[in-house]
Amino acid sequence: MEKVSFTQMKDGTKEEYEFLTAHEIDHTKHTADRLLRALVDLDEGLSGYQITRLGHSVQSATRAYRDGADIDWIVSALLHDIGDIYAPYNHDEYAATILKPFVREQCTWVVHTHGDFQMLYYGQHLEGFDQNKRDRHKGHPYFDDNAEFCERWDQSSFDPEYDTLPIEFFAPMVREVFDRPPYSPDVIRAGAREPLQNAEIAAERAT
Ligand SMILES: [Fe+2]
Ligand SMILES: [Fe+2]
Repeated sequence: MEKVSFTQMKDGTKEEYEFLTAHEIDHTKHTADRLLRALVDLDEGLSGYQITRLGHSVQSATRAYRDGADIDWIVSALLHDIGDIYAPYNHDEYAATILKPFVREQCTWVVHTHGDFQMLYYGQHLEGFDQNKRDRHKGHPYFDDNAEFCERWDQSSFDPEYDTLPIEFFAPMVREVFDRPPYSPDVIRAGAREPLQNAEIAAERAT
């Protein structure tokens, strides 16, 4: 079979749906490569900053790596703004949706709500923005993680002079994360909190 014969889903057969499922599985194997390409596309958007969105994304991931963060954090930092391409008004949610089946719940929540936390750094300058928007999440178990994510990796990563690692350095990590079985409880680890900084690992990576 090269293609199914139905034109309405309700007419499809078991055999056709099994054929399509196999196709879909093959398609999902290339998610990481599509995401990496999309990141490069980010480079065309959002001018006005001293660095592009791609530069910002890779710089965030580089800072996470140098802080000794684990792979879930690094890949989350790399992809946290990927929603800017198609969802400028809820880019955080969009990125979180992509990450959700493949990274720890902690990281998904942080990416999902980072827009509210980032407002701390610029909300005071703009009419109609609430600088303290993050306060609505007060008491959440991952609140402090998001505050740290934004302070150390997001708001700080607009520096054209920073020694940012190339995107190729992170490609194997993106592939590893998106090759995981989706929604595996061993990956999601609901409620688990991993630190953003690990001095020992950071020192190892610096050598
Ligand atoms: Fe963002
Ligand atoms: Fe960002």
